Amino acid sequence: MTDPSGRVRIRSVVAALAVAVLAGGGAVAVGKVPALAAETTLRAAAAKAGLFFGVAASPGRLSSIVNQEFGQLTPENDMKPDSIATSSGGLRNTGNADTLVNYAQTNNMLVRGHTLVWHSQAGQLQGTSQATLNTFIGNAITRWGSRIAYWDVVNEALDDNNNGRRRTQWPHSLSRDANGDGDYVDAGDTDVIRDSFRRAKEVVQQNGLTTKLCINDYDVEGLTVSGGARNNKAQALYDIVRAYTQGTERLIDCVGFQAHFNDNPNSIISDDLQANIQRFADLGVEVHITELDIDDDLSNNDIGQGQANNYRKVVRACLNVARCTGITVWGIADSESWRSSERGLLFTGGSGNYQKKAAYSAVLDELNKGRSGVNPSSPPVSPSASASVSPSVSVSPSTPTDPSGCSASVSLNSWTGGFVATVRVTAGSSAINGWRITAGLPAGAAVTNHWNAERSGTSGTVQFANVGYNGRIAAGQFTEFGFQSSGAGAGTTLTCTAT
Ligand code: G3I
Repeated sequence: MTDPSGRVRIRSVVAALAVAVLAGGGAVAVGKVPALAAETTLRAAAAKAGLFFGVAASPGRLSSIVNQEFGQLTPENDMKPDSIATSSGGLRNTGNADTLVNYAQTNNMLVRGHTLVWHSQAGQLQGTSQATLNTFIGNAITRWGSRIAYWDVVNEALDDNNNGRRRTQWPHSLSRDANGDGDYVDAGDTDVIRDSFRRAKEVVQQNGLTTKLCINDYDVEGLTVSGGARNNKAQALYDIVRAYTQGTERLIDCVGFQAHFNDNPNSIISDDLQANIQRFADLGVEVHITELDIDDDLSNNDIGQGQANNYRKVVRACLNVARCTGITVWGIADSESWRSSERGLLFTGGSGNYQKKAAYSAVLDELNKGRSGVNPSSPPVSPSASASVSPSVSVSPSTPTDPSGCSASVSLNSWTGGFVATVRVTAGSSAINGWRITAGLPAGAAVTNHWNAERSGTSGTVQFANVGYNGRIAAGQFTEFGFQSSGAGAGTTLTCTAT
């Protein structure tokens, strides 16, 4: 469990039960364990489910509801460079940020630092060099140390309009694609994302910190955008995270989906949200919903059940993926939100006097249902089905032709017209050094995207082979890769060959 308060709370529940049974007072029949009551705060319900539920706030908003309802705090504006950075990368005016960190520490809440490298609200750092950015990164991380559980190292690196490109303005103008091949990882390339994470990782390691380092963006939530086209912004983020987690350097620990859902066609709550969370999780990073608010327009100006159901969907998608370890709402009440007219949060009222909306009750209820059998300590093989997200179908494992070779199984996360397949490749009684999967796709299915494997073919018989980092599998162990396809996946066949 990530939330320290959650650990304490669960221990105290267990202790209370033990005392009741030992006392034998008649209230609890021996041998019959009473069902644990539903939790009554978002914080406690989330902690019990194994994730944090947090809020963005400023020092003026620290009323009692904050530590009652939320187990994590993100400074909404007070840790941004325009608030705390000097032009040479030093720190200034850290009082508000200190207040927030101290409040969180006193109340046993996690803190997300927001944010180190961003094109907006850059203040005195605007236009500066990578060297000065690195100085600022070092100063900010060391000031609060492990009291910051997660830092948004790079925020909003990707361009709008679903073009799959990075932004071009500063600080991304510091990056250079020397051979023009569209990536920033070749000899001769420079990459402000990589170099900022490198500096952050170096500071974390040199100081023995537990702080995890995240990349954060918006409109990256679904695999698809409105109308069903590929979400190229999500794909670009995925490519960056893959490049900096699966190679020789493991620079990125966590990914934030901001989740400011509005009526922009690229900002939809799609049925493939869970599948997208899952494919990032499959890279071994934690995934967080970092700035959640849901425009009431998304349910025809319904701030009642329509908005509540949308909240439910998002919470369920996170709960169904073991490495989705936290959800943060971007403010407490509609009236105090950065987009108050859209009434996108969980409370009405203001100035410390808040009333719960239907969306609050839906989130609490969904959190209380827990993770539906997902094992929090390891990624799920098959995402659990739920009424509000895509159904998942398991396909029978293939039979290995050689018991010392390998076998493969697939789990499908499907929606109307498409699916994501997560394929597990398991070594037999001996270690293998490489593998090839021959997949027979049903008629009408065509692969549009894949990860953690090489691929040849699109439909019918499609070949997948290991990439450099996941070819070797110890005896009895497994690795996973995935692909997205149009059509339906039921009936997919797999054959595994050790190479
Ligand atoms: O504090 C001053 C106040 O003194 C002044 O009178 C007033 C006049 O406009 O401005 C106040 O500052 C505003 C500040 O919020 C505090 O309310 C700024 O103008 C305003 O630009 C700033 O907006 C913030 C916005 O980031 C800036 O980009 C929002 O509060 C904040 O919620 C928002 O957060 C971002 C995340 O960091 C990244 N993701 C998107 C998200 C929403 O835009």
